[in-house]
Amino acid sequence: MRRISLPDGTLVPALGQGTWMMGENPSRREQEIAALRAGIELGLTLIDTAEMYGNGESERLVGEAIQGRRDDIFLVSKAYPQNASRDRLPRACEASLGRLGTDRLDLYLLHWRGGVPLRETVEAMERLVEAGKILRWGVSNLDTEDMEELLEAGGGACATDQILYNLTRRGPELDLMPWLAERGIPVMAYSPVEQGRLLAHRELAALASRKGVTPAQLALAWVLRRPGVMAIPKAGSATHVEENRRAADLTLDDEDVAMLERAFPRPDRRRALEML
Ligand SMILES: NC(=O)c1ccc[n+]([C@@H]2O[C@H](COP(=O)([O-])OP(=O)(O)OC[C@H]3O[C@@H](n4cnc5c(N)ncnc54)[C@H](OP(=O)(O)O)[C@@H]3O)[C@@H](O)[C@H]2O)c1
Repeated sequence: MRRISLPDGTLVPALGQGTWMMGENPSRREQEIAALRAGIELGLTLIDTAEMYGNGESERLVGEAIQGRRDDIFLVSKAYPQNASRDRLPRACEASLGRLGTDRLDLYLLHWRGGVPLRETVEAMERLVEAGKILRWGVSNLDTEDMEELLEAGGGACATDQILYNLTRRGPELDLMPWLAERGIPVMAYSPVEQGRLLAHRELAALASRKGVTPAQLALAWVLRRPGVMAIPKAGSATHVEENRRAADLTLDDEDVAMLERAFPRPDRRRALEML
């Protein structure tokens, strides 16, 4: 599994596992836990969750899935913007740790920007690092101007920006991604298969079948081919997890990339960062 270097030198797998919508339906719970465990066995040890997902149920499910394997996992969770203050962040973090059944997060993200000043969030994050509750912190859904402000607010230790990025969401290539790359801040691409909507696209399906791969594998390989980019697809079954894992070994040649990028052109003008 290819690894991505975080700014502090820590290496994490380029392909991880998302968990939005997991834990919300009790009848799917066992299958979702089995899917996450299958992914862990295959090296997809970066797991992304958030206090928001299923009102904490996703974190509970992840906690169960990683039981006995905690030290093998790079565990990511996220705080609501309204919880990203000096007073509330420690409590939100403690609650996430409790649901996850662990004593530390490997990475704690601000889920999106809200009303709390970025400087206050940075301070609150740094205090959690000092307390050993989190090993590092980062952000999500921050556009270039927000990132500039974050760095000015003392946020130089930011480990990643988790953003919406896939073949149909190429806006960040114009501005945000080069800005992050220049500063050695990796991107964590969320919804890398556009929540499944991308997979029925005719040209993607045609190119995939010509290459003898699935549309999901082709879409993921396209995201993963960029240096400094991780992807965290959510897969609710072991079959999908295994399929996605093979995308990390798929190499696209120049012609594949050219065909994909003709079918999914980059916007010609800068636009605000989209989010789901
Ligand atoms: N920071 C943020 O604001 C933010 C926003 C959105 C998402 N995220 C994170 O990013 C993760 C991924 O994004 P996402 O869940 O929105 O969307 P996604 O990963 O692009 O798509 C998930 C959907 O694709 C399907 N899928 C996955 N692999 C497949 C395969 N090989 N073949 C066919 N279908 C497949 C899944 O179905 P099955 O479940 O049936 O496998 C699910 O319906 C989230 O789970 C979450 O952890 C973060």
